[in-house]
Amino acid sequence: MPHSAIPLVKGLPFLGSTFALTQDAIGFMTRAYHEYGAVYRVRVPGREITILAGPEANQLLINLGDEYLKLRPIYGTLVDETGSDLYLPTLDEPEYSYYRRMIKPRLSRDALADHLPESLAFIRSTVDGWHPDQQVRVLETMTRLCIEIVSRSTESTEIGDELASIVFFTNRLIGSGVAFQPRFLLKLPDYQRAKRRFEAFLQRIVDQHRAAGEQGDYVDLLLKSKTIDQKPLNGHDLLAYVHLPFVNGVAYAPRLSGYLLYELLRSPELLARIRTEIDGAFAEGDLTMGSMRRMRWLYGACMETLRMYPVAGALPRYVAKPFEFGGHTIEAGQLVFIATGVTHFLPDIYRDPYRFDPERFFEPRSEHQQPGVFAPYGLGGRTCLSAGMGEALIMLVVGTMLHQVELALPAPDYRLKTHIAPIPGPDKAFAVRVIGKRTA
Ligand code: HEM
Repeated sequence: MPHSAIPLVKGLPFLGSTFALTQDAIGFMTRAYHEYGAVYRVRVPGREITILAGPEANQLLINLGDEYLKLRPIYGTLVDETGSDLYLPTLDEPEYSYYRRMIKPRLSRDALADHLPESLAFIRSTVDGWHPDQQVRVLETMTRLCIEIVSRSTESTEIGDELASIVFFTNRLIGSGVAFQPRFLLKLPDYQRAKRRFEAFLQRIVDQHRAAGEQGDYVDLLLKSKTIDQKPLNGHDLLAYVHLPFVNGVAYAPRLSGYLLYELLRSPELLARIRTEIDGAFAEGDLTMGSMRRMRWLYGACMETLRMYPVAGALPRYVAKPFEFGGHTIEAGQLVFIATGVTHFLPDIYRDPYRFDPERFFEPRSEHQQPGVFAPYGLGGRTCLSAGMGEALIMLVVGTMLHQVELALPAPDYRLKTHIAPIPGPDKAFAVRVIGKRTA
């Protein structure tokens, strides 16, 4: 069947589906899936995009080889901005697997496990500085906590005053390099300043590691590693890898920690249950990876947050070779989105999908355990390298916070808005009120 037969989602003149997509992208893509099927086209100013959604689309992403779906042709901006031809998300095979394997060992949950006491102390000292009635901005706080912990765990480095430029750089880079915001934003002086400062910070991390000798962290691993043609990793290629934990650490975990806190504060019964679990774990001493693994309610709530808030719910790919999908030919030479998050809202997979229900992750329900239906980390060969660290980080941050302090939403019926900036996340203005310290 020709490409033009793929149904086009009805939209507004000129704007097409832009408004619906920026209001609630995953809701829009899920409704379109029900109405138009597993493959449909949407119009946004200046382009038309093909979207593949549902369980078959997720399976496709798992099964289709790298020769069909590529990233490099759409991530050229990332190559330019990092000044590196070796930047992991832009690589195709065989380079991709080589570099992914190279860095994996020091981006796992173990990297965080080795820094738990220090991470706990950092969360506690942050919370200790809060006073009753203070308004705590959630996204800002979660960003500070997550990125300091990721940085200390992977690069043995404190962030301090560098936070603002890292966040600014990351959001603009993802916006124009991945989320199709205009490229001229990368020429503006505010971004150029943040980029210079961030690169100088990365260079200092490298210099400190070279001077200090082996500490066994991710940067040391990079310094010992070789390129695929067996040369030392140097210059911008090295910095492009040093930057990965920062950019990825800023992007996802803080947003999800914010959503988890919101969901728990709006559900007193669930909060009480999770508090009992957290207090029980802390009663045995400081949290460990083992004690976190035993907190099934907090874990279920974390997983349920990953399901209900798929911050990377549609992944772009470039079609390098045509293939058949949903009764249509997906032609080569175009950009498609695989809307991996749509399965998270299908009632034949997740019972009552718009209900926040951690128990769906408990045995025997385990609704997420059918192949390809749970995709917060992407699917196939290119999934997140730090999924284990990400989950442990969210549980650690939110769990420790709830152990230390009593917090409240701005109003009992408060509804958190999602803002796309440049990927979906809690509204920046979302703040919780400190009621007081807990004594449990
Ligand atoms: C729970 C929090 C997190 C979520 C939901 C998440 C999700 C994702 C997603 C969706 C991708 C892209 C997959 C694709 O394009 O197909 C990704 C890639 C990646 N993430 Fe995460 N991530 C999280 C936390 C982290 C953290 C804390 C780090 C680092 C310390 C990290 C490191 C990476 C890296 C290095 C990649 C690139 C992998 C590649 O291109 O092969 N992530 N993540």
